[in-house]
Amino acid sequence: MKTDITVTKSSLKNLKTGLLVLPFTVKSLKKDAPKVFDALGLDKRALKDFKAAAGDTLLMYPGSVSLKASRVLLLGIGDGEATEDYRKAGVSIARQAESCDVQTVAVDASSIVDWSERSGLALEDISELMTASVLNSTYRFDRLKSGKTEKDKDRKKRKKSYEGISGLIVRVNAGSMKEVEKGTASGMIIAEAQRLARDLVNLPGNLLNAVDIARYASESAETYGYSVTVFDKAGIEHLGMGGLLAVNKGSKEPPTFTVLDYNPGEKAKGTIALVGKGVTFDSGGISIKPANGMDEMKSDMAGAAVVLATVEAASRLGIAYRIIGFVPSTDNMPGGAAQKPGDVITTYPGITVEVGNTDAEGRLILADALSYAVGEYNPDMIIDLATLTGACIVALGYSVAGLFSNDDDLAAALYDAGQVSGEKVWRLPLWDEYDELIKSEVADVHNTGGRGAGTITAAKFLQNFIAGHKHWAHIDIAGPAFSAKAGSRPQGGTGFGVSLLLDFLRKLQ
Ligand code: BES
Ligand code: MN
Ligand code: ZN
Repeated sequence: MKTDITVTKSSLKNLKTGLLVLPFTVKSLKKDAPKVFDALGLDKRALKDFKAAAGDTLLMYPGSVSLKASRVLLLGIGDGEATEDYRKAGVSIARQAESCDVQTVAVDASSIVDWSERSGLALEDISELMTASVLNSTYRFDRLKSGKTEKDKDRKKRKKSYEGISGLIVRVNAGSMKEVEKGTASGMIIAEAQRLARDLVNLPGNLLNAVDIARYASESAETYGYSVTVFDKAGIEHLGMGGLLAVNKGSKEPPTFTVLDYNPGEKAKGTIALVGKGVTFDSGGISIKPANGMDEMKSDMAGAAVVLATVEAASRLGIAYRIIGFVPSTDNMPGGAAQKPGDVITTYPGITVEVGNTDAEGRLILADALSYAVGEYNPDMIIDLATLTGACIVALGYSVAGLFSNDDDLAAALYDAGQVSGEKVWRLPLWDEYDELIKSEVADVHNTGGRGAGTITAAKFLQNFIAGHKHWAHIDIAGPAFSAKAGSRPQGGTGFGVSLLLDFLRKLQ
């Protein structure tokens, strides 16, 4: 749903909304809340039941007629010192709007200067953070629900589900207007990018193949004015991308290789390459996966989704770097023509690979894309994102991504961006010892490394394909990209990586 955002100075009493949100820090709850309650004619008994911990809420129905809002939500932002406080507050606003089925939400940000002093964040950053958090949290993937079953009809043709917030009103004092307007605008761009990434991950293998990924990229490029090049199967053969072609062999559908190029021209301070794994469905190929949970492998293109969404957002935000996205895409299927365990293939740079296990396919398509990106564009920095290994989930779980880099400064900057965005990364080593594990008797390198250190050997494999580039990072998002069950995280695609990369790119010097 498209959201209209209005930043206004008009008084709280006059805001026409289904939900008027009054955020308080623990301190301001004591100091300011009684006055605000008096001014709005609210029942002060509520203040006893509310502690203002970050994300806490208390819903009230104003008894008097002096308010144009039909509900009032007390919202806690804790001590208001951490970015996490504001993110949690945003999530709570979305949850409450959904449970009351409210389309227009108004938030009182009259105290944003106080929040900024407490947190050290700029007014713009707080507004961006909260806007993105609210709009990303109302995301639902319901486009495949027709609402046509008898059961749905029985529910008296109710809407399929909550449709989201169509109007967001932010109340500020005159002095904060400009900055808050900027922050809400960029917050909306970030949320839209996250939602795009989540849509792409949630679309199943039969509705999103490699050609579809290329089409989404082309449409985005057309809409937001950056350029895109799509290599079809013949083009990929011409380039000699033996990794991507080998993985594609078992498929009925052709592969694609898409290059998205956002170039701000004169003002570009450098060139960053982003490479994303775009396996639209990973059955494992001939080394087939067990049936249980195989459906989740529709999410194996999450790296590609993040890259596409990030280039789109970079272009809309006017980031001062040239950002080039590289997306190799195919599904990984068994079949009479599929590649076989033991096959030796020749990748784009000519390096030969013994394919010990066809389920280690992501590294094969990334090998081609990484070496193409380095060789053809000579970027200042290269970052790849991939749902690469189950071993990374064993190591770090479902909320943290694995980080590998041959550049300590780059690793530190990505770590920091993770802390700020809440999309955390943890660094693992790339020591030479691990090369032993991926030696091949017959080819230059082996695509699997045995039982130990599975996420590291995958990264070591990739390192062979960056041609000695000194500023490379690999982010294994196998854990955080997708959540099988709803819980503390929403079900399905999470968009993990979009906010991380955007925070990183915008702070890059
Ligand atoms: N796409 C998978 C990794 C994965 C697993 C992502 C679970 C998300 C959740 C990848 O292609 C894969 O199959 N990796 C193998 C590598 C092994 C064969 C060396 C794995 O992790 O088991
Ligand atoms: Mn696999
Ligand atoms: Zn895979």
